Amino acid sequence: MESAGPSTHHIASDVTSTHHIAPDVTSDSMTSRDYYADSYAHFGIHEEMLKDTVRTGSYRSAIMNNGHLFKGKTVLDVGCGTGILSMFAAKAGASHVVGIDMSNIIDQAQKIIEANGFKDTITLVKGKLEEAELPIDKFDIIISEWMGYFLLYESMLDTVLLARDKYLKPEGLIFPDTAKLLFAAIEDQDYKEEKINFWDNVYGFDYSCIKDIALREPLVDTVELKAVVTDPYVIKEINLLTATKEDLTFTAPFNLVATRDDYIHAFLAWFDIVFDCTHKKVKFSTGPHAQYTHWKQTVFYTPETITIKRGQEITGSLACAPNARNNRDLDISITYAVGDEEEETIVDYKMCVILYSCRIPFLLQSD
Ligand SMILES: C[S@@+](CC[C@H](N)C(=O)[O-])C[C@H]1O[C@@H](n2cnc3c(N)ncnc32)[C@H](O)[C@@H]1O
Repeated sequence: MESAGPSTHHIASDVTSTHHIAPDVTSDSMTSRDYYADSYAHFGIHEEMLKDTVRTGSYRSAIMNNGHLFKGKTVLDVGCGTGILSMFAAKAGASHVVGIDMSNIIDQAQKIIEANGFKDTITLVKGKLEEAELPIDKFDIIISEWMGYFLLYESMLDTVLLARDKYLKPEGLIFPDTAKLLFAAIEDQDYKEEKINFWDNVYGFDYSCIKDIALREPLVDTVELKAVVTDPYVIKEINLLTATKEDLTFTAPFNLVATRDDYIHAFLAWFDIVFDCTHKKVKFSTGPHAQYTHWKQTVFYTPETITIKRGQEITGSLACAPNARNNRDLDISITYAVGDEEEETIVDYKMCVILYSCRIPFLLQSD
């Protein structure tokens, strides 16, 4: 039989020099139903995260520019995904890295660490951190990329705090160790018209029952800096070395001061991350003033348009709690009053239905 030369795509089974690329068992056997249950198994979600250079580049700088913190240290990578942070830690001089992930993506991570020569330095464990047995009892450093939309969506921070309490040495470090949630108000007439008021009249029909549902669902999207009408306000600061799971259910006051006369159609939230334990503090922001990240910002439309004058204040509070039926969802309630008005408005939002626009389309089922 004639050998298949390099120019042909015909792959004959009896030609030993041909590389027949058969899909491996995991990716071959996974269907969309499996991806529904294991949303992190598909490479696409990891592609988006890896290509977010603000995110991945910040972790790389924080870890690899701080070899003095990693040299000879044991490191736990909580939710290692494709193993990128584990490999940064190994390159930074860690004596041993354990990466854990409950998703099938870890099968690819195993191949990746072997392909890059880290088989002896990195050990991967497949499973849920809460249930797994790790090969090392106590670690010097925990690294994790746990942040969700609005910082807390996905509730993965619970897992990192549990890892800290169970596996981190008393003087151990966490990368990153500080997260801040920020809040402001925006002028957003055009987009509110398109997303919310659209339901008032759909081809001449009254669809306004959906308007209320749409309004209560925070929208993950990018917002231009020029839309921001108030100073930002730090609504919550989380120190990962000391925070408890209970701290993630909170009510925090805010006080937004208008920077110009304008109309307000929504509140806006974003988060900042700091690797405080690094020598030259590595930090990044997901705010409207900063470079794009896949977290974008989170918009909370108000039922009525607010008219504001420069220097006037919007005071109120934001309450956030995991949803009782699905702890990955968030119940967020915003209470506010404008200027000297006594009347308060309270709006209850539910962060869950980001099915069509998000990197995590399937995280809707409870654990
Ligand atoms: C945001 S991704 C980060 C992946 C990787 N560290 C990176 O930076 O590219 C979070 C990962 O954590 C994993 N994960 C979430 N909760 C987990 C848990 N309780 N136990 C183990 N892995 C978990 C997910 O499967 C996912 O792969």
